[in-house]
Amino acid sequence: MLTLEEIWPPYQLAITEGDLRLTVVRDDDLAEFVAVALDGVHDPERMPFSTPWTDVDPAELPASFVRFQWGARSAFTADRFNLMFAVRRAGELVGTQEFSTEHYALTRTGETGSWLGRRFHGQGIGTRMRRAVCAFAFDHLGAVQVTSGAFRDNPSSLAVSRKVGYRPNGVKRLQRRPGEVAENQQLLLTPETFVRGAPITVTGAEALQKFVGSGAGGG
Ligand SMILES: CC(C)(COP(=O)(O)OP(=O)(O)OC[C@H]1O[C@@H](n2cnc3c(N)ncnc32)[C@H](O)[C@@H]1OP(=O)(O)O)[C@@H](O)C(=O)NCCC(=O)NCCS
Repeated sequence: MLTLEEIWPPYQLAITEGDLRLTVVRDDDLAEFVAVALDGVHDPERMPFSTPWTDVDPAELPASFVRFQWGARSAFTADRFNLMFAVRRAGELVGTQEFSTEHYALTRTGETGSWLGRRFHGQGIGTRMRRAVCAFAFDHLGAVQVTSGAFRDNPSSLAVSRKVGYRPNGVKRLQRRPGEVAENQQLLLTPETFVRGAPITVTGAEALQKFVGSGAGGG
């Protein structure tokens, strides 16, 4: 009988940088995720997400959160996948880091998105996890560029992008809360501008490369 990790190779992947560990979200992580999210992710006055998922009634957030996770998992194909990582520091779940793609074998481009529980902000974790996922994308997944975006009134996300080496790449006007439009700074990172952090250790990259197509293999 195949193990679940053999059936679903993203579960074999682990990216480690110091005491930080990124693994693809599993059902075992969901209860902790919901607890972190219910504890608060950002100042409610200012919505950082273009899908304002943190605005839902706290009574509905748990099921809505896991529905979103299961949706991303079931939509994961070689052509279009979202690696949604559970990020743990010294074993404690602190937030998530995503790397989402479309037509990856052709575009070799992924978009990063992330959040941390509010009590974990401002300790350098956001910078470390973004650097870790970008190093993984360039060195193990054959990415040629990484994109991101942040509302212009989100200084911490923009600061992380700047520190990691992303460059401004235009501005989009997006709806964030219903009826509210806001300017979203588009960002682009290439290997040439990437400011690396501490070295990462990766396990399970080969199985993932095979799963998303031989064209995606990096070093
Ligand atoms: C965005 C987020 C992931 C960043 O993670 P983090 O661990 O807080 O970030 P770091 O501590 O690594 O770096 C934050 C940087 O922002 C800077 N910063 C924070 N508030 C700032 C402000 N008001 N003005 C200018 N810079 C600011 C900090 O000084 C720090 O830079 P430094 O290390 O050069 O001093 C986290 O804040 C978060 O989850 N926010 C809510 C969700 C969110 O906004 N997600 C991104 C959506 S695009």
